[in-house]
Amino acid sequence: MLFASTLLVFLNALSITAMATGKHDTEPMPPQDDPWYTAPYNYEYKQPGTILRIRAAPGNLSSVMTNATAAFNILYRTTDSRYLPSWAVTTLFIPKHPKDVLLSYQIPYDSVDLTFSPSYQLYQDPPSDISRALGLGWYVNVPDYEGPLGSFTAGVMSGHATLDSIRAVKAAAFGLTANAKYAMWGYSGGALASEWAAELQLQYAPELKLSGAALGGLTPNVTSVMLAVSGKPAAGLVPLAMLGLTSQFPEAERYLLSRLKKQGTFNRDGFLKARNYSSVQAVAAFANQDIADYFIGGFSDITAPPIKSVTTSDGQMGYHGVPQMPLYVYKAVHDEVSPTVDTDTLVSKYCKINVAITYVRNPLGGHFDEWTAGVPGAMDFLQTILTGTHDNTGCKTMEIASSSG
Ligand SMILES: *[C@@H]1O[C@H](CO)[C@@H](O)[C@H](O)[C@H]1NC(C)=O
Ligand SMILES: *[C@@H]1O[C@H](CO)[C@@H](O)[C@H](O)[C@H]1NC(C)=O
Ligand SMILES: *[C@@H]1O[C@H](CO)[C@@H](O)[C@H](O)[C@H]1NC(C)=O
Ligand SMILES: *[C@@H]1O[C@H](CO)[C@@H](O)[C@H](O)[C@H]1NC(C)=O
Repeated sequence: MLFASTLLVFLNALSITAMATGKHDTEPMPPQDDPWYTAPYNYEYKQPGTILRIRAAPGNLSSVMTNATAAFNILYRTTDSRYLPSWAVTTLFIPKHPKDVLLSYQIPYDSVDLTFSPSYQLYQDPPSDISRALGLGWYVNVPDYEGPLGSFTAGVMSGHATLDSIRAVKAAAFGLTANAKYAMWGYSGGALASEWAAELQLQYAPELKLSGAALGGLTPNVTSVMLAVSGKPAAGLVPLAMLGLTSQFPEAERYLLSRLKKQGTFNRDGFLKARNYSSVQAVAAFANQDIADYFIGGFSDITAPPIKSVTTSDGQMGYHGVPQMPLYVYKAVHDEVSPTVDTDTLVSKYCKINVAITYVRNPLGGHFDEWTAGVPGAMDFLQTILTGTHDNTGCKTMEIASSSG
């Protein structure tokens, strides 16, 4: 295998004896059941981005391996939303015909149940974007950026875990050189991780030189998302966001749980079922419910000080730094999950301080249509920035109609 020698160096350094080279006897296990998903003793003292464990991805990833030769899991040191040491896992795909290019692809897994972490879920439900990127000769990095607590919507955790996954992949290399170009791409929950990574990069990972980031269906303000979807088809995002965000903040979590009604149709047990749902299951289970009904004080419980302090510090984009890379932002004007005005405001704020942004607003479709409708534009941007031909100056906003077909 082409990169076996690089890998062996790491395996030796980590005192791991067995090495799998693509054929696997083991079956993948959900992260919470797989002892591999634990940080080694004293990992806290390692630098963020340090590789803590590495293995060939178990089982058969062939369904997403169309254009890849191998897939690896890397467990690495990162930093959570309270700026305490944490860890996360990424899955790295090696392309068949490798170029010196890395795409960090953040999947919107939107769940607080670790079963739905990409490193495990990729076996069932691989996004076609990955094979397409691999077909272009790009390495593809797919981090479980919500970390070991499934912290959906926790901005700082997600951003740090995304940046540290790139550091870990650069260290593992597998043929990528120090001059490799790299960029990020995410939609919705994936854009949340990518955007926070872009904001935090200068202070947290100043040595990284990202070529750009494609951010679709941005959700700049978690509170505004919760208000927009409650009572609507995507109401299930509210319990997921509340549980995910407060998983990083024990005090806020205690407060949240204490405000859930103990009795009635909409009670604590019903709300907490979200802990074991995928995003699709949560959306189905809570569809059109007014989530305020679960709380003793209604929605004012969600904006009360213990919660507000964490939605403010960890749930609002645009306050943690200035992206140092060109951005491609795409958004359905009629996005029903996150009001477009929030994205307009974020884009204009960054444009005023000289971030280069191409902002494409699509008058057709809503949040879930734009996920696919936006793919060709995002891929075009990524191809130009990763081959060095993007004009990365200035801001432009365009209205371009495209349907998800
Ligand atoms: C792996 O999965 C692919 C596609 O689903 C299948 O064609 C192949 O036979 C599987 N390989 C093994 C060893 O099970
Ligand atoms: C694999 O890459 C080729 C181009 O090299 C592309 O045409 C094909 O669609 C890719 N496969 C998938 C499943 O995306
Ligand atoms: C976020 O949204 C909430 C609810 O609409 C609003 O009260 C708050 O001011 C917003 N935050 C920012 C920074 O715009
Ligand atoms: C549900 O999730 C909780 C933690 O989020 C976990 O402890 C429990 O085992 C899960 N239950 C099932 C049935 O998966």
